[in-house]
This record gives sequence, structure tokens and C-alpha cells, in this order.
Amino acid sequence: MRGIRKEFPGVVANDEVSFEVRRGEVHALLGENGAGKSTLMNILYGLYRPDGGEIRLNGKPVSFSSAREAINAGIGMVHQHFMLIPVMTVAENVVLGTEPVREGVLLDERAAARRVADMAKTFNFAVDPEALVEDISVGQQQRVEIMKALYRNADVLILDEPTAVLTPQEASDLFDILQTLRQEGMSIIFISHKLNEVLEIADRITVLRRGKTIETVSRHGATEASLARAMVGRDVLLRVDKPQAATGDVLLTVQDLHVRDDRGIEKVRGVSLDVRAGEIVGIAGVDGNGQSELIDALTGLQKIESGAVTIAGRELSHASARAALDAGIGHIPEDRQRRGLVLEFSIAENIALHDYAKPPTARSGWLFPGRMVQRAKTLIKEFDVRGGGPLTRAGGLSGGNQQKLVVAREIDRDPKVLIAAQPTRGLDVGAIEYLHRRLVAERDEGRAILLISLELEEILSLSDRILVLFEGEIVGEHTGEVSEETIGLEMLGGGEKAVA
Ligand SMILES: Nc1ncnc2c1ncn2[C@@H]1O[C@H](COP(=O)(O)OP(=O)(O)OP(=O)(O)O)[C@@H](O)[C@H]1O
Ligand SMILES: [Mg+2]
Repeated sequence: MRGIRKEFPGVVANDEVSFEVRRGEVHALLGENGAGKSTLMNILYGLYRPDGGEIRLNGKPVSFSSAREAINAGIGMVHQHFMLIPVMTVAENVVLGTEPVREGVLLDERAAARRVADMAKTFNFAVDPEALVEDISVGQQQRVEIMKALYRNADVLILDEPTAVLTPQEASDLFDILQTLRQEGMSIIFISHKLNEVLEIADRITVLRRGKTIETVSRHGATEASLARAMVGRDVLLRVDKPQAATGDVLLTVQDLHVRDDRGIEKVRGVSLDVRAGEIVGIAGVDGNGQSELIDALTGLQKIESGAVTIAGRELSHASARAALDAGIGHIPEDRQRRGLVLEFSIAENIALHDYAKPPTARSGWLFPGRMVQRAKTLIKEFDVRGGGPLTRAGGLSGGNQQKLVVAREIDRDPKVLIAAQPTRGLDVGAIEYLHRRLVAERDEGRAILLISLELEEILSLSDRILVLFEGEIVGEHTGEVSEETIGLEMLGGGEKAVA
């Protein structure tokens, strides 16, 4: 890709970007939130038309006006938000749109299913072709997306933040798959904000900053610090500096909580915990051990089976989401697109989402749009939301900037208790540095913060106290120094309490 330019109203997303990928290499694309990574890849995949520049494939100029044309030319892309059909099987999803049909009837479903099964075996995908997509894990769904691309004979595979939603084990399985594909001569473009992963898997690394190519370097000789500096344009503090906590009253109490998931399976099994003003309590655990159900129960999104939840002395066990918010809960949800934002609404409207009916935004039934816009302006600046102003549609923001928007709103609501679930998912290193500092500052303002994160490093560096959740129960509690190994063992159910 040479001299690629792409403008959106008010933003130059790609400004003369040059980028090249060799056969059989993993090439990482790095850059801050809004730097233009997804835009560049959407151009390569035929979803956006560039305003300038050229694309050459095997030396020949190409131009795609649809994804179908890019696919036919051998380009595959796995988006961060998967595009599978949940009620169809793995095999059906893989062949969808390519099946041999005559007069609208699928010709040989069996042959298609066999081909998918063969492929799953060859590449060691460990996915059952007959399983329904809605029944398999996120990591397996991602493999289905990769199989879709392989089935269409892709030889350039684009992965946009593939590990953001994976557990460390799933990520390591994905890397094994990528190694195999690389050996087969496939070219892989890998977007990630996790610098350690980039250094592990990439042969070369290209850094974008504010729409421009900064440099392309070999993995050899690159360090996390050098990459962070190239991305952000300054040195980044990769560790959190945190003074001793000064704790106050208990603001969140959970007593013997039991919660079932949508299918009636008990996912939270007798959790008791409390969080004081001025402390960050981190919940460590492998994905799927009851974190989501615990969060949903605390925020009124899922009804509880038994037990009690109290916020600042107020019992809220069976409260609605609205009542939980009014009682002083702030919630940074794990899925920003489903639960954090209305993508069709503007930034200002999204910020006013919970409190639009209250002063100062409204009074006696009258809405004051000017105040909404003013508030949005202030928060955009404070939280460095890039890519637009108060009236920009939230859906037009880059993934990381959408996340910053949710965080800004929830902190600005001045909650007593802040429930932060995967708060740095999709954020660049500079934004993570800011958010981590900000969470510590909010703690020191006297908020009670419950941090739920799959990133053990994040839990270890931010928490004043760590609870380990395993199969819906708290199996460990730690204050002060504790090793990653100890927590890791407990996360897998091998701690002292579980053994005893
Ligand atoms: N469909 C769109 N409409 C309007 N603006 C857009 C659109 N897509 C991207 N942009 C803007 O282009 C810029 C680059 O966005 P892009 O999604 O490429 O960033 P990114 O590097 O992928 O960031 P992130 O790490 O947050 O995913 C941003 O300022 C974004 O707001
Ligand atoms: Mg992106």
C-alpha cells in the first residue's frame, strides 16, 4: 500500500500511509487509538475506498470496490467484532456465501461439511464443525472466522485486535495457529495493543501515529519501551505508581450471593465481599468463572437467586439497573458496544444517557442541549477522546476511543462505587497509562472501586486487595505482595483453600 489517504468529515484517518507485507511473514500494525489502523485494513479489505494512493498485490495494481473483490483476490479479514450467525453450525458459517448452489438449493452440504472438518484437522483448530456457533467459546468463534478466510483461499490474513477478547491460553493457541499458517506461506497482518504479544509473534512491526507511518522495524532489537515511544511520541510509564490506600467506610457489601445465568446454571455460588471507600479491590479469574454474572447482578442487569447487595448502606438486592445507577453505582461494562453505548447516538447524547432527565441537562421536563454539548466538550478534552466533537456519532469513533467515552461518562457521574470490567480493553499504552492513574486518583477521592479484569498484570499492579474467583466462588484473598504464580494457581482451582 503506497501513499494511502482516507478522510472522514473533519478527520484525516490515513495520511499518505505506506505499508508493505512479505510472503510468509507476520507483520504487526501498531498505533494509538484512532491512529488509522482499522481504516487502513478496511481499505485493503475493500470496505472503504481510499481517497488517494495505490495498492499492489504481487506487484500488480489492484483496486477493490467491495469485500467480495478483495476476498477473490486472496485477502481475508477477521474483525474485532465477529460477524458469525449464532444459530448456524460452524460448518455452515464457514461455507456461507460460497456454497455451490443451483436454483437456490445447496448442492452438496455434506461435501462442504467434510471440507471444513478436514481443514479443522489440518490446522489443529479443535472446533467441532457440527456445533452451533452460539454454543462455542469466543476463542473457538475466532477460529471459525479464520477458517472462513482459509476456506476462501486467503493468502493475506488480517486480524484486527484478535487477542483483545481471548484468555491467555486461547491467545497462545492462536499464536500456534499463526505459526503454522506462516509456515504455509501465508502473510498475516496482526493488530494489537499488547506489546509483549507483538514482540512474541511479529517478524516486522509498522507503527502509525495520527494517520501517518512512523516507521517499520524488525522485531529484533525492538523493546516494549521503544515501541511505546514510537507509538505515542514520548516515554510511557509502563508501571503504575500507587501510594498506600487510605480506606474509609464500606461502600459495597455483597453477602452470600447466588446468581444463575440465562440457561439456569448457577454461576455465582455464594460470593461475599466488601469494598471500602478509597480502595481498589481486584477480582482475578479465568474468563467464564462467574465474573460476568457477578457484574450483571451488582448492576441490576441480572436478577439474583439469593443473597444481598448493599450500596452505601442501601439494600439493592433486587433493584433495577436504573435504581442501581441512582444509588451511586458507576459501571464500565465489558462489552462497550452492546452495553456501553448507543452507536447511532452522538457523543454528547451518549454522555447524557443515564442522566438526561435530571438537572443540569433537563429541568421541569425541558432539555437543554447546549449543556449536553458543553459537558461533552469538557469530557472529550479531559479523557482525550479523539476523532470528533460532541455531535459526532459514537459509532464513527475508533474502538479505543469508544472505550474512552464510556469511561469518561461513568467516572463523571461521580459514583460512590465504580465497577470497572476490563476497563482498558482495546486501549493503547498511552491511554492505559492515563486510565490507570485516573483510577488510582478516583480511589484517593474516596470511591470504592471493584476491578474485574482478565489481565492478571493489571489486577496485580492496581489492586489494594485481590480476590480470586474460581467456579463462582472466592477461593483466595490477598493484600500486600503476592506472586503471579500463587494467583495463577488459585485461578485454576489449585489454591490452598481448594485443595483443603
Ligand atoms: N466510519 C467512520 N466514520 C467517521 N470517522 C471514522 C470512521 N472510521 C474511522 N473514523 C475515524 O478515523 C480515525 C481512525 O480510526 P481507526 O478506526 O482507523 O483507528 P484505529 O487505529 O483502528 O484505533 P483503535 O486502536 O482505537 O481501534 C478516527 O479518528 C476515527 O474516528
Ligand atoms: Mg481499530
